[in-house]
Amino acid sequence: MAYLKPDKPEKVFVPALREAKEKGEKLVCLTAYDYPTARIVDEAGVDMILVGDSMGNVIHGYGNTIPVTLEEMLSATKAVKRGASRALIIADMPYGSFHTGDNKAVRNALRLMKDGGAEAVKLEGGRNRVNLVKRLVDEEIPVMAHVGLTPQSVHKLGGYRVQAKTADAAKILIEDAQMLEEAGAFAIVLELVPREVAEIVTNELSISTIGIGAGSACDVQVLVLHDLIGFTFGRQPRFVRQYANVSEVITNAITQWMEDVRSGDYPNESESYGMPKGEHLSEPKKAVTS
Ligand code: KIV
Repeated sequence: MAYLKPDKPEKVFVPALREAKEKGEKLVCLTAYDYPTARIVDEAGVDMILVGDSMGNVIHGYGNTIPVTLEEMLSATKAVKRGASRALIIADMPYGSFHTGDNKAVRNALRLMKDGGAEAVKLEGGRNRVNLVKRLVDEEIPVMAHVGLTPQSVHKLGGYRVQAKTADAAKILIEDAQMLEEAGAFAIVLELVPREVAEIVTNELSISTIGIGAGSACDVQVLVLHDLIGFTFGRQPRFVRQYANVSEVITNAITQWMEDVRSGDYPNESESYGMPKGEHLSEPKKAVTS
């Protein structure tokens, strides 16, 4: 059997994360949920694209990630796959898609890989997910773990707060991370934890830590694209650095277009079509009414 070479030599695969960690190279990850943003993020050179269930907040307006369905995740993952050729594509396992038995979770993860084109899945949880992570990895599904603030637990946690702020809670989180590494996860998201805790986890583990609101020691940084480009509503968490104001750009464009339409300036001749030369229109005959 001939082994096919990946069509793009620089395509990012799961082992690239460990290699980067060993070399001390930082990687970057952004979310995308559709074809155009996936293309832009990929062509900009981002190493990993997370089709995150943050889509519940960012593009569906649900207010949290709880209602996101597997079908929504599948549709988004397919679109992202069509738009990205280099970045590693990770699909989030939505709330409810891995909570009702390991067989069901494996089936759902396989759908994200086979139908969606994901190259790995991410799921939230600590030691309570260790057996599931082992099982998924046994089925050749690369798993990214996610500890600290796990937004799917928002009702249990009572809000979006920094986690592992006491020495006891930090110890539990560090142990969870170690257990998830032993279970076979290839990377672990650390969301909203003190930078000191993230640094210990990063030093203790040989898999990559992917930080969001977790300080600069993490091996990879991840952000929600819409936060980074200013395409969201409401107050941003303190860890977000906003690099553009896309909402303002869109509003200005729409406002300008409305003014042009209302003033008769749009569309002008070059933005419309004329009859071909030599073609003459005759006056339409009046309809005869009896
Ligand atoms: O859903 C998401 O976008 C995430 C990141 C914030 C890590 O889980």
